Amino acid sequence: MNAYGAAVMETVNFLRERLTAVPEVGVLTGTGLSGSMDSLGVDLALDYSKIPNFPVSTVETHRGRLVSGTLAGRSILTMQGRFHLYEGYSPLEVTFPVRVMQALGVTCLVVTNAAGGINLDFSEGDIMVIRDHINMTGANPLVGTNNEAWGDRFPDMVHAYDAGLVASAQHAAKRAGFTVRTGVYAGLLGPSLETPAEIRFLKIAGCDAVGFSTVMENIAGVHAGMKVLGLSVITNINDPDHPEKASVDAIIKTAENAAPKLDAILRGIVE
Ligand code: HPA
Repeated sequence: MNAYGAAVMETVNFLRERLTAVPEVGVLTGTGLSGSMDSLGVDLALDYSKIPNFPVSTVETHRGRLVSGTLAGRSILTMQGRFHLYEGYSPLEVTFPVRVMQALGVTCLVVTNAAGGINLDFSEGDIMVIRDHINMTGANPLVGTNNEAWGDRFPDMVHAYDAGLVASAQHAAKRAGFTVRTGVYAGLLGPSLETPAEIRFLKIAGCDAVGFSTVMENIAGVHAGMKVLGLSVITNINDPDHPEKASVDAIIKTAENAAPKLDAILRGIVE
């Protein structure tokens, strides 16, 4: 086992001693979304700083907390606050939580993020269920020697986002009284926001939303054999013909306001 694998196992052993059940569902939340899942029946909450080998998020809006509990009778492990490539973390660091979840036994991974809308039919506050992605970061968490115990050298990405989970998310939203969008997420390196020409380019490429996360975790999750659900909160609309300066404060506020919708979807798919 290499040093990375050993670090994952050290963290896993630390958590196994504290968790009361094997988690089935793993949830990774991003910008402004750490408040979602507050309805969870919590049995363990730990700051990342208390967990061995855990990177500490440098983004102020990310809580940096692991919370485990029960939702609709199922054991759930949430990691509130993620790591981004733009913070200077390597793809392996960004996907460390996914590998920990894999080793703990998680089989279903839910990844949430805040994203800029490219599809002009979308509105601020909409939830887009990710149907597919384009990884434009230039990075990949599977570069290097493949750990065969974790997954295949060339994992198939045809079903990167599980179609059954997309349908479940749509149904859960409907039952809760709102509709969701579906679309393609463009994963960029960031942290500079997109130019109008870049937005035009992404639109032509078939992207509906853009952000700086999720694709690394998705790839690691697929490699791990997990079913992955991706949920984007559309926090702002990027119209290249009427470009407007994005307000980070407004983005965070919109993301926070969407937490009840994400909770409803999560509860629905778990049930
Ligand atoms: N671009 C990139 N990431 C984002 C955006 C955006 O417009 N909005 C929220 N996250």
